[in-house]
Amino acid sequence: MKLRFKTLLYIGIALCVLITAFCTLSFYVILSSFNSIEENQAFKNAGRLTEIVRKELSRIETLANDWALWDDSYSFVGNGNPSFVDTNLQDQMIANLNINVLIFMDTAGKIIYGTAFDSVKKTKEPLSEGILESIAANKGLFEQKDEKGIQFNGILMTNDVPLLLAARSILTSKLEGPSRGVLIFGVYMDNAFVENAGKQIRRDFKLERADREMSLETAEALVSLKHHTTPVIKMSKNDMLSVFIPFADIHGKTCLIANMTMVREIYKEGRTAFLTFAGGILVTGGVIYLLIVFILERAVLGKIRNFTEIFGRIRQVSDLTLRVDEKGGDEISMLGKEINKMLSALEQAKTTQQYTEISMVNNEKRYQLIIEQAPIGIVTCHLDERFRTVNKAFCDMLGYSAEELLQGKELKDVTFPQDYESAQKHFEEHLEKNLQTIRLEKRFVRKDARMINVLMLSQVYRDLLGDPQYIIATVQDITEQIEKQKRQDKLEEELRQSQQLESIGRLAGGFAHDLNNFLVPILGYTDMLIAETSKNDPLYNGFMEIKNSAERAKSLSQKFLALSSRQMLEVTTLDINDIIKSFKSILNRLIREDIKIEYRLSPDISMMKGDYTQIEQVIMNLAVNAKDAMLKGGVLSFETYDETLFKEVPDAHPPLKPGKYVVLKVTDTGTGISKAAMSHLFEAFYTTKERGKGTGLGLSMVHGIVFQHKGGIRVWTEEGKGTSFKIYLPASEDRPEQIKEKTVLTDETRRGNGEVVLIVEDEPSVLRIVSSELKRNGYDVIEAESGQAAIELVKDAQSRIDILLTDVIMPEMDGKELYKRLSEIRPDLKVLYMSGHTYDILSQHDIQAPDAQFISKPFSMEVLRTKINNLLDG
Ligand SMILES: Nc1ncnc2c1ncn2[C@@H]1O[C@H](COP(=O)(O)OP(=O)(O)OP(=O)(O)O)[C@@H](O)[C@H]1O
Ligand SMILES: [Mg+2]
Repeated sequence: MKLRFKTLLYIGIALCVLITAFCTLSFYVILSSFNSIEENQAFKNAGRLTEIVRKELSRIETLANDWALWDDSYSFVGNGNPSFVDTNLQDQMIANLNINVLIFMDTAGKIIYGTAFDSVKKTKEPLSEGILESIAANKGLFEQKDEKGIQFNGILMTNDVPLLLAARSILTSKLEGPSRGVLIFGVYMDNAFVENAGKQIRRDFKLERADREMSLETAEALVSLKHHTTPVIKMSKNDMLSVFIPFADIHGKTCLIANMTMVREIYKEGRTAFLTFAGGILVTGGVIYLLIVFILERAVLGKIRNFTEIFGRIRQVSDLTLRVDEKGGDEISMLGKEINKMLSALEQAKTTQQYTEISMVNNEKRYQLIIEQAPIGIVTCHLDERFRTVNKAFCDMLGYSAEELLQGKELKDVTFPQDYESAQKHFEEHLEKNLQTIRLEKRFVRKDARMINVLMLSQVYRDLLGDPQYIIATVQDITEQIEKQKRQDKLEEELRQSQQLESIGRLAGGFAHDLNNFLVPILGYTDMLIAETSKNDPLYNGFMEIKNSAERAKSLSQKFLALSSRQMLEVTTLDINDIIKSFKSILNRLIREDIKIEYRLSPDISMMKGDYTQIEQVIMNLAVNAKDAMLKGGVLSFETYDETLFKEVPDAHPPLKPGKYVVLKVTDTGTGISKAAMSHLFEAFYTTKERGKGTGLGLSMVHGIVFQHKGGIRVWTEEGKGTSFKIYLPASEDRPEQIKEKTVLTDETRRGNGEVVLIVEDEPSVLRIVSSELKRNGYDVIEAESGQAAIELVKDAQSRIDILLTDVIMPEMDGKELYKRLSEIRPDLKVLYMSGHTYDILSQHDIQAPDAQFISKPFSMEVLRTKINNLLDG
């Protein structure tokens, strides 16, 4: 039930009760007082009526006394004086006495004189039968008992009319007897009497005889009157009041009842006044109620409702800017003011709190966003290593979804097993030392089983008591970095190696050039001496020894040139299978018998461009190394096939570009190569072999040659199991050329037949030996020490010049330029370049991959002659 309703109900009830109580009380108090006024009034009237009767009785008794103690009366009764009646009892005199009955009775009870009197007609009339009967019936009352006689008054009920009666013994005026009888005066209690008495008391009444049939109400009253001598009042329903006044007869018995009925004017007035008053009270009560309601509504309930409404809205919309009604200065307004103050405080607090919350939420969101978008993994783990939170970068790093990591994985599950223990130890050590950040490099295993290197920076998050709660870590995938570093290291290593090779190459180039120039005459003259000396000659072996040494020096110089990729290549289109096949015999001689040689050569192998001899060098070096690695025997296999690389192979030596390659794979079941050796494998002079057994130039050479052929080498090795070298050489679409017969040194090399050879050489010793050797072999020779000199000679020479044999690099004019100039003079001139210089230097002089037109120093005279002959024949 609403307070408003309750309050109004209670106030209403209270007012009603109050008004009812008040009215009831008033009703009873007022009406009862009115009642008693009316009763008093009634009693008064009754008293007055009684008084009238009493006075009337008293009056007639006085009259009777006067008349009875009058001597005339005395004598009238004694003597029977007839004039007495005429004189004293005339109508007028009786009318003056105002009586209705006059009886002179003698002592014997005989009526001497008796008359009735009609008060209206004012005439005597005979006593009625009823009166006479009653007098006779009450004869005893009139008997004289003593001298004084009798004297009384009272009501005598006659059959006709009640009679107010007074009797007195007739004596002398001196009150002397004997009594001669009784004088009786009577007054009718008839209607006239009633009317007259009514007038006196200003109230109508009716007189009812008790010995006759009475009205019902009088009869009822009579019952009460038996117990009361005083009048009885009865209220009737119709606002009437009846007073029943009993009158006793001369015997003391109730004989008459006067019924005085009055309209209850006072009561009615009183009641009307009360009702008006009650109505007034009710109206006032109503007005007061309304006033209370109004005041209560305005001052209390309205405000409480306002409070409720505002509180409700605040609760619903959480709007703390709303304010309750605080108008007025009463207690509720004060409460309203206090509530508003509280709301303001709350609003401020809320604003502050909201601001704090918003900024906290924003910060949280911002941090989450930052964490989520961070390019490095950010992760929190429980102390038991279960993942707590993971960001996208971390998930991407490991290839797991966040759900997979958070629901079933631990740090241990993604840590590379071999790293777990050490990482754990490291972590615990740092935790013990209470270090802020724990830095750890370890490996993780991705969902796809790929391994990644990570740098993990961890911190232990502690609560306020310092107890560890969880671990926060940033995880950076450094695989790329490590790979890059490795590549960098490798590149640096390669650069170092290539710089080393470069310097070795330059050194080798210069050295080889000079050495070659020295070797040309040494080999030339040795050949000459050997040719001139018989085998039985003790010097023959010495010359042979010189030749061998010179040959070894030559091969050493070639090795240097090869490893520095500075050789002049004689590039042709080759079938690698052919090279291997024709190399078989040499291999068989080279490789020990405890080593089994296998060949798996692809029949559909592509062609390649290269220098036959150099490729042979590669095969040989690899074979020798394999042999050396298989000291206890094993299998050496040669395999060839085509391989297409679709992307760059950076770990090849040198790195391989995408493309189609001819692959030569040489595999042994030897010792394998240690990690340490692997990093120095292609370095010049790197060897693990005993002093004198290896120079450490073999693989450098292979590298140099392969490099010069724009190929690459890949190595697989496992210690104790063996090694595989894969030589990649670019495939060619060209058809294979007929492999030129290797310049075979035979004694039958055709001698010259007077062909004119112009030799241009700035190195005199070379010029001399070449010149004399050619001359010795039947050629005509023109010598020149420079290009300019040669041009002069050709200009002057009348004879034919068949071939120009010229050094390539000369101080003023190089061989190429010389040939160009001379060709203008002698268009059919053929040329054979010779040079001890390296490939790179020669290529600067437009000497590319020379074939028949080029001969490298040092050369044997047979090879020179063969080349010259081939040119002349071609
Ligand atoms: N097939 C192989 N098996 C095992 N180790 C090898 C193999 N090939 C090369 N090596 C190692 O590489 C080193 C360098 O080889 P490289 O051919 O350059 O020089 P070398 O053989 O020692 O001397 P050289 O070839 O000049 O006579 C060798 O000393 C050897 O330790
Ligand atoms: Mg070797």
